[in-house]
Parts: sequence; structure tokens; C-alpha cells
Amino acid sequence: MIPGTGRRLIKKFFFDANDGIIQVMETIIRKIDKNQIDETVINEAGGLLKAGRLVAFPTETVYGLGADALQEEAAKRTYAAKGRPSDNPLIIHIADYEDLKKIAVNIPPQTDMLAAHFWPGPLTMIFEKSENVPYGTTGGLDTVAVRMPSDPVAQALIRAAGGFVSAPSANTSGRPSPTTAQHVAEDLGGKIDMILDGGSVDIGLESTILDMTVSPPMILRPGAITAEMFEKVIGPVDTDRTLLDADSKQAPKAPGMKYRHYAPKARLMIVEGDIREEILAIRQLAYAAHREGGKVGIIATSETLPFYNYGIVKNAGTRENEKTIARSLYRVLREFDEEDVDTIYSESFAVQGLGNAIMNRLEKAAGHETIRAAEIVKLQKYRRIIFVSSSDCARGPMAAELLRHRDLKQEYVIDSRGLVVLFPEPVNQKAEAIMRSAQMTLGDHTSQKFDGANIQEDTLILAVGESQKQKLLAEYSGLKNVYTLNEFTGDDGEIPNPYGGALAAYGECFEALDRLTDRLADKLNSFTEEE
Ligand code: TXA
Ligand code: MG
Repeated sequence: MIPGTGRRLIKKFFFDANDGIIQVMETIIRKIDKNQIDETVINEAGGLLKAGRLVAFPTETVYGLGADALQEEAAKRTYAAKGRPSDNPLIIHIADYEDLKKIAVNIPPQTDMLAAHFWPGPLTMIFEKSENVPYGTTGGLDTVAVRMPSDPVAQALIRAAGGFVSAPSANTSGRPSPTTAQHVAEDLGGKIDMILDGGSVDIGLESTILDMTVSPPMILRPGAITAEMFEKVIGPVDTDRTLLDADSKQAPKAPGMKYRHYAPKARLMIVEGDIREEILAIRQLAYAAHREGGKVGIIATSETLPFYNYGIVKNAGTRENEKTIARSLYRVLREFDEEDVDTIYSESFAVQGLGNAIMNRLEKAAGHETIRAAEIVKLQKYRRIIFVSSSDCARGPMAAELLRHRDLKQEYVIDSRGLVVLFPEPVNQKAEAIMRSAQMTLGDHTSQKFDGANIQEDTLILAVGESQKQKLLAEYSGLKNVYTLNEFTGDDGEIPNPYGGALAAYGECFEALDRLTDRLADKLNSFTEEE
């Protein structure tokens, strides 16, 4: 920050592709409050645009990289700064509806109704272009994309710049679109003249693009304005099939949609299924990666966050309000670029309303790589293991802790329970002494009674002896996957009951459990190998 000026400067040297000289460019960053717009700042920014320079500014969707849409040279600068192919056309932003007629011709009658409902707002419409629009701005096309943003800063800037501001998203081509001025500075600092910092954007995903040159109009890019919303105003609209069909070999109608956009550095895969399956599958994948020393990222939601024990987990918002997810998605993808992860697994979201746009962007970021959750989930037979003893004070908790120390190829919730537990008690002191001599502790354990109510299909119940097994089967009808530890591991030895015995009896018991949990771990691990 330059003292007293409210300005920050980013200086970068960069190599100019045209004349091969190294240039220095200063990017001025000016804070601006949309509720109290500083005219001096707007006029300064507007002046730069009129002079053919580049100014990034907030809109309600994402930050845009503004240039004067009617100057061919300004478009060239835009492409250079973004590193964007010049056949990918820009959207022209206007602030007054009458201005549409200056840049578009043969405007269909439905446009008035659409504009009345959705402008200013996150809608871009495509028309035949007028002669005023240079081909540099439209990427050589005879059509022009037009949007009237609702953000007051954007509107003030457009007016100050003369009414027509071309603006692609203000990111380096291929990176996620920026939702804060900081994101813009990361990508374009030193390459553009000014950034207006108006804080975080509201929507977080780019506008819906509707092609008005065909009948019925066709959605080329889903956004916050959905097909159902259009339908209520003008009746049915089409959707570009290439958006719906991941395997389509056809080029999408919006040239920009063909590029692998929004791509994070790590490999991103979307896990699809019902939400319970997705969580289980991602847990399995993250655990497996962790075991192999891989670094995994997880895109989760407030509701699912607590279920993940491995990997770097980021919250994309709440499933109760998909707007929160739209708003955070690009930030989360950018944050993962800063983390040292090689794979990112994302939960998927319902493909309806705004969810359609969210999944469209997520799928593009993932290069359409998806994993079927059910396929992963079925690879794990048991997820929870409960050791059952009489009082849950010695053998059960010892077995559980021993198993937790084994190298297991899959993640298990490992518990112990007792058949007769009148009130919670700490573990037997001799059992604890033996565990300590083996660098383990049951210090946190308190006994709990077995509860037949919360047993799922994927729970394995291992009784420490035959009598406990018989009692379980007698008391809890319909219980599945009940074995003695010996039986399950195919070991005909016995687990001695140390109760009331000397320390040595607990030592013998430990030896037996150590051997059996070793065999148990092998058996559990063999389930993964069989698939
Ligand atoms: O929300 C938004 O639309 C943001 C903010 C800044 O307004 N802008 C934005 O621009 O997302 P950009 O350039 O990142 O994406 C524009 C998309 C590209 O996919 C481009 O190919 C398509 O619009 N497009 C532009 N003009 C077109 C035209 N004449 N015909 C078909 N597609 C067009
Ligand atoms: Mg873009």
C-alpha cells in the first residue's frame, strides 16, 4: 500500500511476445465500495478504458477484465494478458438497455421480455453484431454476446468508459474464474493497468449464456438463470447438447466451452452416487491414498465435513443452500492449487437449478473424470468392527486397541462393547499395565454396553469367546456377521479369561490377542486383494 493514497501497486516484469523487450507494468489496485461509489476512482478507471487500457472490475458473477469493446487494440491486449486464444469471443457489458441497439442487429422480440426479467443480472444474450463491433472483440464471429451486469461498480465503470466494456473473466486462461480481487491479482498482477477491488462477488459462477440467434433460444452455458426460469418468461428453450453429453465429440456452440477451463493443478475426480455412498467411497479413496503416502484433497460440504479423517478437506458450502456452493467453488479450486495435493475427490451435487451450473463447472474442472461411488463402496465388506466381551474392561478393549495398531489396508471404525455393563468403568488396571508395557494405552476407554440397535450390514461383530457369541445371538435376534475372534481368524487356540488373575494372566491374554489380531488384520486385508 502506498501510504496515504489507498493504492497498492503490483509490479512485474514480463516478456512482450511482439517486440521481445522486457516490460514493466504497474497494476494499480483501488478499493471500491459498491454502496458508496467513489466517483474519482471510477473516472480514473473509465479514463484508462477509454485510452484502450485494461481494468479488472467486480460483477455479480465473477471479476471481469474490462476493455473498451469498440477498440480492436484493446481486445488484443485482453487476449495477451489472459493468455487466451483469440478465437474465443468476449462478452460486451452495457449499463443501459438502449445501448443494445448500437451493437446488435435483428434483435428478436422476446429479448424485451428477457431483459425486463433478467437484466441487469447474470444473463448474457447472443445476437447478430452491428458494424460498430470490431471482429477483434467477437473473435471473428458475426455474432456478439451482450450482458448488463447488476453490480453497481460494474455499471458505474461501464458508463464512465463510454458504455461498452468487453470483459472476459479476469483470470489467466485455464485457471478458475476469480471471485475476489486477490484472485485477479494472483493471475494478472503486473499485466493489466488497474484492479477495482469491490470485495467478494455474490454469485461466483459466470453468467448463463443464451443464444438469441436461434429459435427457440439455446442455452450455451448454464448459470444462475436456469432453463426453468426462462421457460416461465418465454416458454421452452433449448440447451446445447454438447453441454449435457460428456462424451460429445462435437464442438460446443460457445467457443470458450471447448477449452479445459477452471482446471486445478491436481487431478480432480467427481465421485457420484447417493450422498452416503459418496462419503464412504471418498473415505476409502482418501484412506488408501494416505497409506500409500499420497496427498489427497476433498471437496466436501458443511454437512459431510465431519466424516472425513484423511486428506485436506475443504468446505464448499452447505447443501441446504446451493448458492453458498456456487460462491465458494472457484475459491476452493484455487486454494487446492496452493496445497500440495496430487488428487482431489469431490462430492457431487444435484443437477437442478443452480446445481446444473455448479456441476457443469465441476465437470469441466475434472475434465469429465468421474468415479461411481457404488463401485468403490462394494470393495469394502466391513467398515466397523466391534469386539464383544463380558464387561468391556479387558479383553475387548485390548483387542480393539491392538487392531488399531495394525497396518490395515482399509479404514475401520474399531470399537469394543460389553454384554453386562451396568455403569461406565475404566479399563482393568492390570490390562492397562500390560498394554503400557507394549507402548499402548487404554487410558481413554470406558466400558459401554452392546447396543443391538445401531448395527449396520457392514459391521463385523467379534466375540472374545463362544459364550459371549451365544449370548449375543440369543439376546439380539437378526444380528448378522457374529463370530468368535478365533472362529473368524481360523485359529483354534483360546483367549484365556484373565479376570481375577495375576498380572501374568493378563500377559497371557495379551499374547493371545496379539496373535489373533495379527491374523485378523491379514484376513481383513485379504478382502481387498480378492477383488
Ligand atoms: O459472468 C460472466 O459472463 C463473466 C463476467 C465477467 O461478466 N464473463 C465471462 O466471460 O465469463 P468469458 O469470456 O470468460 O466467457 C465468455 C463465454 C466464452 O465461453 C465465449 O466463448 C462465449 O462466452 N461467447 C462470447 N461471445 C460469443 C458468441 N458470439 N457466440 C458464442 N459464444 C460466445
Ligand atoms: Mg472465462
